[in-house]
Amino acid sequence: MHAIVVHEGGGPDVLNFEEVPDPAANGKVLVQVEAAAVNHFDISQRMAPEMTGATLPYTPGLDAAGTRVDTGERVLVSGAPGAYAEIVAADAENVRRLPDSVDFERAAGLGVAYKTAWASLADTELKSGEKLLVQAGSSGTGQAAIDIGRYLGAEVYATAGSSKLDRIRDLGAEPLAYDDERIDGLEAAVVFDPVLGNRLEASLSALAPTGRLVTCGALDSPMVSINMWSVVGKRLRIIGSGGGSVTPEQLDRLIELVANGELRGPVVDRELPLKQAAEAHRLIENRETFGKVLLKP
Ligand SMILES: NC(=O)c1ccc[n+]([C@@H]2O[C@H](COP(=O)([O-])OP(=O)(O)OC[C@H]3O[C@@H](n4cnc5c(N)ncnc54)[C@H](OP(=O)(O)O)[C@@H]3O)[C@@H](O)[C@H]2O)c1
Repeated sequence: MHAIVVHEGGGPDVLNFEEVPDPAANGKVLVQVEAAAVNHFDISQRMAPEMTGATLPYTPGLDAAGTRVDTGERVLVSGAPGAYAEIVAADAENVRRLPDSVDFERAAGLGVAYKTAWASLADTELKSGEKLLVQAGSSGTGQAAIDIGRYLGAEVYATAGSSKLDRIRDLGAEPLAYDDERIDGLEAAVVFDPVLGNRLEASLSALAPTGRLVTCGALDSPMVSINMWSVVGKRLRIIGSGGGSVTPEQLDRLIELVANGELRGPVVDRELPLKQAAEAHRLIENRETFGKVLLKP
């Protein structure tokens, strides 16, 4: 089969398209991949594989949708390393059945991004009618947070690059440029911030007293310097979260919510052939995408 193989950490060009042996089942479920999603983790891992526990050489990717080789069932595989390939071997509990109404592309885009946004907003106990600010609403996790926030009945605001604000409005959120003066004093009950770095100060200033800030990652730097008086004075809570806590049954629920239209589902920015994985990473690193980029074997 063909797969992307990384032999050493570095820039997008370390993503090599190679012919490799088909994976052996060895107690796992083999899935013929129709669409694999690119997650920001894949980029961080590519740059410093040793920091993520990857053993070189490795095949990147965590999310894929396709058909089970043994039964022909349509499935989503999420949280299974090696998804940038024609066939992926996954633990049975990570292989979830797909209803016919959810196509492979939307399913692949759903995995890590929706699990992460779901866990993050659940950790804040976001309630209907509360104001939610999503930072980087154009990111995979940010777009999912807009979708899930609206599903939970929140009044959703979202920041994004200036060329992407119309698309934020199309998703049902009030768009805000990163430097919009309304962010300070927005009085949000919850902020979802996957950016951190210089953005964190604005996220904290957007919160109402007793507000909750949740973060799942750092598109900017994880090293931050903030004046903690705003946290103390407004009695804020800062919460770390991630998709790893989402159970297989909760992922089934997310799939069901997309299938029955209660969630809009992931925005697919574009689909590229698997051999163009390097180009996919470049586009994301250049902030040229909105939502998910998919790779098609
Ligand atoms: N803990 C977990 O389980 C978990 C799971 C998923 C993701 N994460 C982490 O969460 C973060 C977001 O991941 P993602 O997959 O949602 O990201 P993504 O889809 O790759 O987001 C890319 C977009 O983020 C926006 N952005 C804002 N500030 C940025 C900056 N300083 N540098 C680059 N892009 C910036 C850009 O849009 P604009 O042009 O509109 O600003 C860019 O197009 C990452 O750090 C990722 O590793 C963690």
